[in-house]
Amino acid sequence: MVHPLKFRSVISQQLAAMIAAILIAGAAGSAQAQPADPQITSNPSGKLQTVTPNGQIDTNNPFFKSFGTNGRSCDSCHRQAQGWSMSPDELRQRFNSTGGHDPVFALVDGANSPLADVSSVYARRVAYSMMLNRGVVRVGMPMPANAEFRLTAVDDPYGYASAHDMSLFRRPLPSTNLIWLTAVMWDGRETHMSFLPPMDAGINHEDVIESLASQAHDAIMGHEQAAVEPSAAVIDQIVDFEVHLFTAQLVDEDAGKLNGGSAMGGANILAQQRFWVGINDTLGNDPTGDVFDEKAMRLFDEWNDPNAQHSHDPRERARGSIARGEQLFNTLPIMISGVGGLNDAIGQPVITGTCSTCHNSPNIGNHSVALPINIGISDASRRTMDMPLYTLTNVSTGQVVKTTDPGLAMRTGKWADIGKFKGPILRGVAARAPYFHNGSAATLNDVVDFYDTRFNIHMNTQQKRDLAAFLAAL
Ligand code: HEC
Ligand code: HEC
Repeated sequence: MVHPLKFRSVISQQLAAMIAAILIAGAAGSAQAQPADPQITSNPSGKLQTVTPNGQIDTNNPFFKSFGTNGRSCDSCHRQAQGWSMSPDELRQRFNSTGGHDPVFALVDGANSPLADVSSVYARRVAYSMMLNRGVVRVGMPMPANAEFRLTAVDDPYGYASAHDMSLFRRPLPSTNLIWLTAVMWDGRETHMSFLPPMDAGINHEDVIESLASQAHDAIMGHEQAAVEPSAAVIDQIVDFEVHLFTAQLVDEDAGKLNGGSAMGGANILAQQRFWVGINDTLGNDPTGDVFDEKAMRLFDEWNDPNAQHSHDPRERARGSIARGEQLFNTLPIMISGVGGLNDAIGQPVITGTCSTCHNSPNIGNHSVALPINIGISDASRRTMDMPLYTLTNVSTGQVVKTTDPGLAMRTGKWADIGKFKGPILRGVAARAPYFHNGSAATLNDVVDFYDTRFNIHMNTQQKRDLAAFLAAL
């Protein structure tokens, strides 16, 4: 069992120290008003802010150094300006300026197939097309031993994937805002738990650190193709660096400063967010006994203004749109059905919920417990021709499922876990398109359209626009 109160106090002590440091750093920063603030980066919808208690992002940290044989560092795939993930636009620039020789373009997992021809610029452009078009990495994994299913057919456009090495094309998750993770990696495979693991429980702070240490080790051995094990000191420094990063959008092109007018956007306020495993749990498992409050997002309450829509001031209109989007996120009814890990888990074929039913961590937006679920992103029906498609057959029932990525089932071998992924933290999303584990939604509008179709919500154009404007302000 988790002992949440203990962990809460650990986290809150840590946070208090961080907040103090950030406030001091913030005061110093504004007094000097430096022209190029290293905390701030630009993105298509405005400016992203990353703060850290030391006041500056230490680019001498081993996070930015290569420990392997292919020249990559964590920074090859986790870039501050792209919300500590990576983006197709920026990857194309890197490709063009190096002729496809930047270390991120490595056969091992950067290419569509590790056997691809990379002998010319043209060949490299073809070989790395998934990375260049979708910003995804090929996560190679063997079929789990003793699984409840067998791989009975493979349709891999790149002619490589097999039961020994399945190609799962996945987006780098952001290496920031990590102290609030309740599962590490899309399928939770790096989640370390010091207590007996019920698969859907969250993890405590010590476990987050342990998980991230193991994750960093595996990234150096895998993505960086290291020949020798990294030292414990290197791992400690990387983890210490990444768990002290807090990232959020600070400025919106149209609405201006997201912490202006008593709003609560930006990374400094985010760093003070209270959190514990199970906070605001949808299914009533908040260890404090508090009941679920669907108003999980409360950053832009102060911008609620029924007259904003008719204002002559474009900034007021933009603020109004973000505030309406936040209300929609919290309150627009969604008939949630067919979600494996949720509807079946509680025996309710339809749950009347909202976006915040699943994105319930207050002002953070992930699940406050691990809750791996299947919302259908890797379903055969959504497969595009650039993705491999796998046919899985249930060993005992003969049932067949086609999927582009079995998700959690690659870890557990369980039929019921096919297609289950975690819901990521939603802060700083504007900087890190495309979205979902496979990058299938190119923009936040596409994300909103996905939900509108998947759950038959029937949002009107204005609602869609407001919801996307809100997401971009996170
Ligand atoms: C080749 C690109 C690449 C490199 C290099 C890389 N990563 Fe990642 N990272 C990814 C991908 C892809 C994922 C998601 C994979 C998955 O979930 O299956 C990921 C996931 C993560 C996560 C999980 C975050 C979460 O929300 O669960 C962390 C933390 C992370 N990486 C840190 C690092 C660190 C630290 C390094 C350097 C030691 C590193 N990464 C190097 C691509 C990369
Ligand atoms: C039934 C649970 C559920 C509901 C309801 C839900 N989400 Fe999600 N959300 C998820 C999961 C799970 C993922 C990750 C899925 C994947 O990539 O396979 C996700 C991913 C996302 C992402 C992409 C994040 C990223 O980094 O790629 C955004 C943005 C998002 N959701 C916004 C919303 C909005 C807006 C709504 C309401 C219209 C909503 N979600 C409703 C579970 C849910």
